[in-house]
Formats: sequence, C-alpha cells, structure tokens
Amino acid sequence: MTPYIKEHKDRFLAELFDLLRIPSVSTDVTYQPDINKAAAFIAHQLNEAGADKVEVCQTAGNPVVYGEKIIDPKLPTVLVYGHYDVQPADPIDLWDTPPFEPTLKDNKIYARGASDDKGQMYMHVKAFESMMKNNTLACNVKFMIEGEEEIGSVNLGQFINERKANLDADVILISDTGMISIDTPSITVGLRGLSYMEIELTGPNRDLHSGMYGGAVQNPLNAMAEVVASLKDADGHITIPGFYDKVEILSDEDRAKMAKAPFSLDDYKKALAIEKEFGEKGYSTNERTSIRPTLDVNGMWGGYTGEGAKTVIPSKAYAKISMRLVPHQSWEEISEIFTKHIESIVPDGILVKVTTHHGGTPVVIPTNSTEFKAASNAYAEAFDGKEPIPVRSGGSIPIVALFKEELGLDSIMMGFGLDSDAIHSPNEKFGVDNFLKGIETIELFYKHYAAIK
Ligand code: BES
Ligand code: MN
Ligand code: MN
Repeated sequence: MTPYIKEHKDRFLAELFDLLRIPSVSTDVTYQPDINKAAAFIAHQLNEAGADKVEVCQTAGNPVVYGEKIIDPKLPTVLVYGHYDVQPADPIDLWDTPPFEPTLKDNKIYARGASDDKGQMYMHVKAFESMMKNNTLACNVKFMIEGEEEIGSVNLGQFINERKANLDADVILISDTGMISIDTPSITVGLRGLSYMEIELTGPNRDLHSGMYGGAVQNPLNAMAEVVASLKDADGHITIPGFYDKVEILSDEDRAKMAKAPFSLDDYKKALAIEKEFGEKGYSTNERTSIRPTLDVNGMWGGYTGEGAKTVIPSKAYAKISMRLVPHQSWEEISEIFTKHIESIVPDGILVKVTTHHGGTPVVIPTNSTEFKAASNAYAEAFDGKEPIPVRSGGSIPIVALFKEELGLDSIMMGFGLDSDAIHSPNEKFGVDNFLKGIETIELFYKHYAAIK
C-alpha cells in the first residue's frame, strides 16, 4: 500500500459509503432522483480530486459523468469507464444488513453496488486523486461514468457517437469484472454477449375455471413449460437450429492454457450448496461459463401465484430468457433464430409473441498489446511479482464491443471483484483489501503505460 493510500484510506471508505447510501437503481424510475444524486456525487468527487471540465452530461436517459485531466497532449490518454447505477436490492428480506446502509463486517463492505460497480469504479477516482496529490499522474485521463449499464447502456452509444472527438484516447480502462482471488491476480480478456428475450403465450381469451374447462383447451403455462424444457437436451445442448453455427472453436492448445487457471470444483459446489454441477457435455465448468454459449430462463410467470389454491387455467403465460453468446455469434441473428424457433414449436391453440429486450456483442481482448503489457506489469508489481492470468468471463458489458466499433479502442478490464462478492444477489459485498489493492494497481498501470507506450 502506498503511503498516500494508507494515510487516506478511512476517508476513501467514508466517501464510498456515502455513494453506496444513494439507491441509484436504474431499472426503476422511482429512483430517478437518486440516479441524479449519484451522478452529482461523482462529479463533485472528480472535481475535488482535481479533474477539469467536469460535467454531468444529460442524455435521453440517465446522465453520464465526464471529467478529464490533460497534462500533456503528447502523453497517452486513458479513458476510464464505469457505472454508478446498481441492480435492485430485491429480495430485501434476504439481506442481513440493509442494502443501502453500507456495513463493514470482517473487513468487507456489504451494500448493493459495493462490488458492481460503485466500489470498483471509485477505485479509479481515488487512484486519480492519489496521483494528482503526489504529482505522479503520468498519462492524460478522461472519465466516463454512466448510469444505465444495468439496463443495457441504452443511451451510451449515442453519447459516444456525439462526443467522439472529446473521447479520443489510447485505451479504455474498466474495473467492472472479477479476479481469480486476492492472491491470484487476473485480467478479464473476454466477455460473453447477450440476447435477452421475452415470450408471451396466450390461450383462451380469459382465465377459466380449471374444472369446467380443464382437459379441453391448451393451457398456456403448460405449453410454456414444454417450450422451455425443449430448448436444452439432457447433455446441456441448446436445441435451437443454427444456434451453434458461428460459435468460435478454440484450439486444444488454447483450452489447455485456460485449464491451467486455478479452480476447485469442490469449492465451487460448496459455495453454491449444489450437489452436482450441470452444463454442456464435453466442457469443463470454466469453459461452460466463458467460451461456450448458454440459455437460461430468468423468470416465468402466469396464472395464480398468490397464497392458497385458486383453480384457474390462465389466459396468458410469460417467460424471460437470456442467452449468453460467444465470439462470432451475433445477438441480432440469435434473437431472430430464437424467435423463429419459438414460433415454430408452440402447440396449436396457443398464440405466441416473442420480443427482444436487449443484446450485447461478445468480446475478446488481445493479450499482445502494449496496453495489456502495461496492465500485466502493474499487477506484477502490486502482487509480489505474480503475473496476472488472462481469463474470459461469463458476464456481459455490452458497451465494450461498442468502444471497439465506435472509438477503435480495446478495453483493459482490471477487475478486482470476487465470485463470492454476490453481485446482483442479496448481501453483495466488496473486500476492503480488494478496494485498496485495486487503487494501488490502477496507479501502477498509469506508470507502466506511460513508460512503455
Ligand atoms: N459488471 C457486470 C458484468 C460482469 C460481472 C462481467 C462479472 C464479468 C464478471 C455488469 O454490471 C452486468 O451485470 N452486466 C449485465 C448485462 C447488462 C446488459 C444487464 C449482465 O452480465 O447480466
Ligand atoms: Mn457492472
Ligand atoms: Mn451488474
């Protein structure tokens, strides 16, 4: 830990706690004032840290916070991306401490957004402050912190497009992923894409008495169960024709390299309290969540779900289904073949409507770039000479592919979260050690990048 971090860490944490107290949930419009509060808070902190041109930029949706420090146009420029919006805290009952009253326990910060992404994003603000105060900032820096990541970054594409000239940079730096463990550093070099769909099935024009009509009409919930169950076979293969057509096939050599990353299936099962893992035949657990696509039901509803027993044949049934995609799969194309397939398998007597929520393009980041080398050097220095292991992650950050498309820039994903952080789940947390180590490693990135760029 640098002397500056050591001296100011309590204040760093107090500020992060203030940010975590703002329930900036982007999925629900009732939190709009908090979204604006969170954006204003970050703008204020960027100003305090010494950024210029700090602006809360309005978009058609939630604001993007911008700030920059250009110390010398000849130096490389780092564009920092992060998000201040968070997932809803539900189910609230399952939290041991209130989600928006950050609590320190066992040196971990418990709060919604602690790891995803307020805690990780804030490491960059504090690394910047530290470099400003110590006069060690070795690159130009631009911050772009958005408030719509958790709802698919719907307006960020236009923002980037409009401000292209402003956002000119050499690399994008992001901390919104994980690492293998606090003593095994890793850099995320892959993200899966996403196609998020919704199915609505309609049977009879109204809910029916299940005794008077039961047995004589199609029940849309039964039909939904059949449809959903048929999408994967017993070997974990997705049955949609054409689904795997474009999937990137990795060489045995690449797979062997990936398999070297430390992983314990026993610990994995224990952490999730499952007796057995399940996934596509022929692939390891890590491969199933990184280099292979998948399909999951996120929610399914219809009919009577209240207390007690109501005898009813529902008129409608719904399901939300996500597909995680891998390189060369196009989410637009997958959404289309999904729709066609669902329409073709719905039984007679049922009307079907399939809609696309949002999508994201998969990404793979090259490991032979100057940017990757700089990050690698930074980790090696921060982690006692340990080189970071490149890993592909199962999650999605749709904007990363757009950065490449629109700005021509690769992203370096220096994630400091752990799988056990329980992001999107009750009792989300972020280790204080991860937070501080992140700040230290980020500072070192600037140093090494300026040195070799
Ligand atoms: N930070 C996550 C993505 C992530 C988590 C990547 C862990 C790698 C490891 C991000 O905030 C997120 O949750 N993304 C969504 C996608 C979005 C379109 C809602 C996701 O992956 O479900
Ligand atoms: Mn995130
Ligand atoms: Mn998230």
